[in-house]
Amino acid sequence: MCWRLAAVLVLLLGPGITWSDPPRSIGPERCSKCHEAAHTDWATHLHAKSWHRLKEADRKRPQCLTCHAPDRQNRQAGVHCETCHGPGSAYAPSHIMRDPNLRGYLGLLPQSLATCQRCHVGGHSPKLKPLNLVELWRKLHHKGTKSPAVTPAPTPAPTPAPAPSP
Ligand code: HEC
Ligand code: HEC
Ligand code: HEC
Ligand code: HEC
Repeated sequence: MCWRLAAVLVLLLGPGITWSDPPRSIGPERCSKCHEAAHTDWATHLHAKSWHRLKEADRKRPQCLTCHAPDRQNRQAGVHCETCHGPGSAYAPSHIMRDPNLRGYLGLLPQSLATCQRCHVGGHSPKLKPLNLVELWRKLHHKGTKSPAVTPAPTPAPTPAPAPSP
């Protein structure tokens, strides 16, 4: 009887506690312990407020939250560090952060205009301004961080659909 119970527990809990769990969000406060300048800059940016700025009635609408609060399940109200940089539970320890290969392997995402295009799409522009992603990118650059602002590489053209098989 006991081993059956144990087997059931392993089945139920096992997958939840293995080391191969996908990385989780740990929240901007954790990142700020080592990236204070980036955090200070982000905290004053519209991304940090993109949920609070919605009208009360829109704050629960899934069709708004996908972009205005994509990480609600982890109690994050806006577009935060890990929305762009990837969930950080695995890459945040400092010895991993210092290793460019390891941090990428453990989930730190490379940045390109494609990151922005997940949300900054032509169809949704309440201000009716033409969308200029490169200009937005320059505005986003975290002030006070050590790297100079870099101009992002142009987005590669979409891969053509594979030819239908005969
Ligand atoms: C324990 C300290 C620590 C924590 C916590 C931490 N980082 Fe880092 N991070 C570092 C160090 C150290 C580097 C390496 C700096 C270098 O290579 O000069 C780094 C580098 C980076 C880089 C730069 C990579 C590049 O291309 O130059 C990004 C982006 C980054 N961290 C994002 C994050 C995010 C997002 C979080 C929170 C999920 C986070 N970090 C949490 C210490 C930390
Ligand atoms: C595909 C992603 C996406 C979705 C879905 C989305 N938004 Fe937005 N929203 C954005 C982006 C990106 C901006 C910033 C636009 C800019 O300033 O260039 C924005 C800006 C806004 C603003 C500020 C506009 C201003 O003029 O200051 C409001 C309000 C807003 N959205 C409401 C909503 C509501 C309500 C919904 C749901 C019905 C919604 N959005 C769904 C991406 C999205
Ligand atoms: C909207 C997407 C987005 C958000 C949100 C965001 N970042 Fe970044 N981050 C970028 C991009 C893009 C770059 C590289 C381009 C640049 O800095 O000009 C970058 C660069 C960085 C770097 C490397 C710059 C350096 O030289 O040190 C660090 C560290 C970093 N981000 C940490 C953070 C932290 C911490 C947060 C949250 C407090 C955060 N980022 C929020 C998109 C984002
Ligand atoms: C998960 C969705 C999401 C992603 C990914 C994202 N953004 Fe945003 N961004 C928003 C929303 C939503 C707003 C509007 C917030 C508001 O007005 O309340 C916004 C606002 C901005 C603004 C301020 C608006 C303005 O006209 O000044 C800048 C700049 C910006 N984003 C740049 C970027 C850049 C650059 C990237 C990619 C590195 C990026 N964003 C990625 C959702 C996103």
